[in-house]
Amino acid sequence: MNAVAAKQQQLDALQKRIQVEDPTPELRDGATQLVFGDGSAAAEIMFIGEAPGKHEDEQGKPFVGAAGKFLNEMLGMINLERQDVYITNIVKYRPPNNRDPLPNEKNAFLPFLQEQLAIIQPKLIVTLGRHSMDVLLPGLKISQVHGQPKRYKGHVYLPLFHPAAALYNGGMRQTLIDDFALIPVIVEKINKGTY
Ligand code: URA
Repeated sequence: MNAVAAKQQQLDALQKRIQVEDPTPELRDGATQLVFGDGSAAAEIMFIGEAPGKHEDEQGKPFVGAAGKFLNEMLGMINLERQDVYITNIVKYRPPNNRDPLPNEKNAFLPFLQEQLAIIQPKLIVTLGRHSMDVLLPGLKISQVHGQPKRYKGHVYLPLFHPAAALYNGGMRQTLIDDFALIPVIVEKINKGTY
């Protein structure tokens, strides 16, 4: 088995374990299905959003609604497609009425997200919005640190605004596009050992 297939097998096993361990029974109860992740198991870049919305809940894939369309567009701007990267959320069931995920829900999923990271071993972790940033890079303010790569606990992170927040806000939209353009530059530096 090649390395990518081996990682995919580990991801499949992790997905099943979440279903068995059932970290948030109430969220699971109100959701259609688990939204685990999408993309390459051997991706260099991993994007982490907040929680599934209506479309994600229906389709079982992260970022397939309006925010996802914008995310796909921004990936295209840096010559990437969804299958080149890995996309997931901190919370893997849709919260009722799209409310913000609660701190205990984020904490319940954190060990599984850490395992997902350990399997994929991305070179760059891009957090989308404050919810995934809060659990992975605690104590930061997104308005102050967006677009600034951070080394923390053995990983390199790039905190970005959430595409949904930027969708209908022209200024934030351009900021997010500009921040996104840093992704290939940072990955190249990491690969060259100059970051
Ligand atoms: N917003 C998120 O944070 N995640 C999704 O999967 C979709 C929208």
